[in-house]
Amino acid sequence: MAVHDAIYNPRDRGTINDPLPIFRQLQDEDPCHWCAPLKSWVFTRYADVRDVLLDEQISADRLTPYFASLPSDQRRGVMEVIKYLNTWVAFKDPPDHTRIRSLLNKVFTPGAIRNLRPSITDAVAQLLDPLRNVEAFDFVKEFAYPLPATVILTMLGLPLEDIERLHEWSAEMQPFIGGATTSTDKYARAEAGAIAMAEYFRAAIRERTSRPRDDMLTKLVACRENDDALTEDEVIGSAILFLFGGHETTTNLIGNGVRALLQHPNQGSELRAKPEHTKAAVEEILRFDGPTLASVRLVGTEHERHGRTLKCGDRVFVMIHGANHDQRIFDNPNVFDISRSPNPHLTFNYGIHFCLGAPLARLEGEIAIGEVLQRLPDLSLAADQYDYMDTMVMRGVWTMPVRQT
Ligand code: HEM
Repeated sequence: MAVHDAIYNPRDRGTINDPLPIFRQLQDEDPCHWCAPLKSWVFTRYADVRDVLLDEQISADRLTPYFASLPSDQRRGVMEVIKYLNTWVAFKDPPDHTRIRSLLNKVFTPGAIRNLRPSITDAVAQLLDPLRNVEAFDFVKEFAYPLPATVILTMLGLPLEDIERLHEWSAEMQPFIGGATTSTDKYARAEAGAIAMAEYFRAAIRERTSRPRDDMLTKLVACRENDDALTEDEVIGSAILFLFGGHETTTNLIGNGVRALLQHPNQGSELRAKPEHTKAAVEEILRFDGPTLASVRLVGTEHERHGRTLKCGDRVFVMIHGANHDQRIFDNPNVFDISRSPNPHLTFNYGIHFCLGAPLARLEGEIAIGEVLQRLPDLSLAADQYDYMDTMVMRGVWTMPVRQT
């Protein structure tokens, strides 16, 4: 095993930028890999990733054991953050997952998402028009980052001018939620951010309880199934989850997508000529360089895989980006082909935790990428190399210099 321990170092800059050669090697030689730097099991084959995501012996609840492991004074200091994170459907197993997810499904309907098309198209135009004659700019900062925030706020029915403070509170909570090891005051900051954000949402919810509006926050407050409804804390927690879960992911879909099209100019020109292929192109972007590097789980019941024993409490990474390039499933997986079909990528996960926001992300991706190609025909990349973020769950870049000539 020593040789494999040496080959996958997730913090190595070259590996962060392109983990595929290592994933390919692990798929062939060590499909159930113990990664010493991560102290976790790593699965890279498509079939294993799907199996793990469906397996009831493996739990999505990675919060309860984490909170239990905190010293009691630290735990007392983050009671509010914990209260809201504890409502997140993403961290729940059945039956709690089933209950909250079926209430959320009533709000996140395909029809509700389709209705957002005009406001998304509008938001895209507002952001792109001022960029038309700008010679050089940062594509992430000016377009891919602000767009999803605008869309989520519009969807929830919140004023766009609140973006700044919501962003500040998210940034306070991020080091705690993302498990940063470098931030010393992350507990106190996360608690302050959670209290402020919860107060903000509580006021917005109470206003909608007395005066319902045509927005998703009102629908979350009002949705019922049998005699059940979301509690006020669950509505607040879910709204925070939408902000977290739907923002940077979609930013990275748009950023990685436009970059892939500019790096493969033949595919870019084909799409410009045939915009009706944008939906399929978005699926290929999600597969080829999607925003999801991995999903994380914990072993709930001891069991064996590939002859190795996974013990209760062990952490598991399923490398979705690796699975999306598994040649056992995809022909020429390293070729970017916007007409690829079928394209059963796992970027939105698989099984009960399949991304609730997938229809929204797909619609945003389709409109945003389509409009960028049409409205900014002379766009090109202004850097030779783009460094990906050093995180274990996402794939994307913080900055993306582009130019128009
Ligand atoms: C391209 C953009 C997106 C990608 C790649 C993505 C990816 C994912 C993935 C991989 C999961 C499963 C996480 C896990 O179980 O480990 C997930 C779950 C989830 N996503 Fe997304 N997401 C995107 C956009 C959105 C948007 C726009 C929203 C909502 C505004 C959203 C809301 C959620 C929620 C609520 C869950 C939890 C579902 C559950 O556990 O049942 N996502 N997403």
